[in-house]
This record gives sequence, structure tokens and C-alpha cells, in this order.
Amino acid sequence: MKPSGLGSVDPGFAATVEGRLDSIEQRLLTASEADTRLVTEAAQHIISAGGKRFRPMLVVLCAHLADAEGAAVDADRLEKAALVVELTHVASLYHDDVMDDADLRRGAVAANRRWQNSVAILVGDYLFARASDTVAELGTDYVQIQARTFARLVQGQIAETVGPVPDADPIAHHLQVIADKTGSLIATSAVFGGMVAGFDEETLEVLRDFGEEIGLVFQLHDDIIDITSDVTGKTPGTDLREGIPTLPTLLARAMDRPEDERLFALVDSDLESEEDLAEAVRLLREHPAIEEARTEVRRRADAARARLQVLPAGPAREALEALCDHVINRDD
Ligand code: IPE
Ligand code: IPE
Ligand code: MG
Ligand code: MG
Repeated sequence: MKPSGLGSVDPGFAATVEGRLDSIEQRLLTASEADTRLVTEAAQHIISAGGKRFRPMLVVLCAHLADAEGAAVDADRLEKAALVVELTHVASLYHDDVMDDADLRRGAVAANRRWQNSVAILVGDYLFARASDTVAELGTDYVQIQARTFARLVQGQIAETVGPVPDADPIAHHLQVIADKTGSLIATSAVFGGMVAGFDEETLEVLRDFGEEIGLVFQLHDDIIDITSDVTGKTPGTDLREGIPTLPTLLARAMDRPEDERLFALVDSDLESEEDLAEAVRLLREHPAIEEARTEVRRRADAARARLQVLPAGPAREALEALCDHVINRDD
């Protein structure tokens, strides 16, 4: 995510952020080198394909909140913290693409297709090991947070796979799943930024809550654009094909409209055929549940933005505010 997502923030500040993100790019490539050409190539495949770098951006912005208090941020530790969250994220993408049988990731052939599932799984493990190596340099407090974050992320992925127990509220289950699989690491990104900057526990708590909320918003919006966008660099309707419930389909089901009979016959089928998938996507794009989901996402984005008000005012806070809008307006 280049500073273009930050709105009309001070150009000097934008240049600082951009410089930091460029260095983090270099570190990502170095950190993903391995002992053999195959592992290096497979590990760099998804890293080089791009990605928004939303989590490193959060680390950088949250750390630079300290500028307003005249505190200097240690650039090396900041970049390491950003490296850790992005490596952890990319590791989870390798695993997620195996779980979701994905064809495309970041506009590139997914690693499970380019090689095979076992390579994608082990490369994910390799990148997680590389993240662990770097987080150890930051200190045991970071290591513990990283470990607990990954434990939550994995449990979210498992809970999504097994679904809610009978009689559980499917929307409540879904919100817990995305808080765990996505909110956890995004919250940690905000907290790591704050820790690098030396903020007190009270401020870290604000950053954690903000990160959880914007993380939830990020995933809820991602699930909407899985249906509505053709430019995500992923195959539209992947969640539908994999039978993964998301807010639009859960809300549509709850509306229980007779005219949705065809839609749910498709959604509840395997959707192997391209025509069936395209029809399901088309029916959902026109469905009022999309607007209802967007309303909920906007409400939560406003809640996330409101949490920022107690943080030090300045370009970093403005950039975080702009990010709250960017997250719900993006198409990719
Ligand atoms: C993809 O994350 C998985 C979700 C949590 C939706 P991103 O949308 O941050 O993916 P990249 O890093 O930009 O590819
Ligand atoms: C990804 O969830 C969450 C993690 C990788 C932990 P999704 O399966 O919804 O993400 P995409 O749509 O494949 O990016
Ligand atoms: Mg997926
Ligand atoms: Mg998934």
C-alpha cells in the first residue's frame, strides 16, 4: 500500500513513510532467501508479486505517532517489526491458498498451482521460521505477542473450516472467525508500531483495539470485493466456490427472500462450473445484502476512526484516519 492510500497527508511525512516501506521491501527479499534455488524462488514468488503491504504500513504509521511527541523512532527496529508482520502474513497466504484451493494470488499463479500443495505448505512454514528469526531480535515480549497472534490466526482458519456448531448464530461465528484470522495480525501490527515507538501500555491498548476493528473492517470489505470486484488479483467468487460464508451471503440468507431460490441453489452447490460461478456472482452483485454489508462495514470503519482521537495529533494520525476510508473504498 503506497502512501497514495494516505490521502492528502503532509508530503514530507509521506516521503518518510515511502522511504521506510522501500527499505522494508528490500528486507523482505533478503529474508526470503534460502539455501536452495527452489526454496528461494518459491518463497519470493508471492512476495515479489506485490501486495498492498497494509500491515507494514500500519506498523510504520503507528510508530510515527510518536513524532508528535518529539520522540525519535529507531528505524532498524521499526523495519524489523514490519518485516515480521508481513512475513507472517505471507506465510499465512501460502497456507490459505492450499486451504482454499486458490488459482491466483496477487495476480500471480498461486504457489500451490505453480508447484504443489506440499511445497506451498512448507514454504509457508519456511517464511514463518524467517519471521521468528527476526522477531527474536526484537525481544521476548515481541516473540510472545507474535506467538499468540499466530495461535489466534490459525484457530480462526480452523474455525472457518469446521463452521459453527449446530444452533450457533452463524453471523456471530463468522465475526469471531475473521477477528481471529485477520484482526489478530492487524492488531499486532498496530501494537508493534507502538512498542517500537515506546508508547505506554494505555496507548498500546488503544492501538490494539483500533487494529482489531480496522482488521475486521479490512476482511469484511475484502469479502465484499470477492464478489463485486474484478481487479483483486484473486478469482472473483472464490469464497462462494469454497463454500465459505461471508457477511453478504449470511445477510442474504437471513433475508430469506423467495426470489433468492436460484441464488442459494447455486451457492449450496459445488460451483465447479465457470458459468454457475459467474451466475452466482452476478446474482449477488445485484442483491441488497451487498449494500447492507457495506453499511455495516462503514459503521465499523467509523468506530475504528473514532478510536484514533485520543492518540497524538499529527501527520501519522491523519494518515491512519485516511486509511480508515481507503480500506473500505478499495477495489483490490
Ligand atoms: C489477504 O490479505 C487476506 C485477507 C486478510 C483478506 P491482503 O488483502 O492484505 O493481501 P495482500 O497482502 O494485499 O496481497
Ligand atoms: C485469509 O482469508 C486469511 C488469512 C490468510 C489468515 P481469505 O481466504 O478470506 O483471504 P483471501 O481472499 O484468500 O485473500
Ligand atoms: Mg483465501
Ligand atoms: Mg481462506
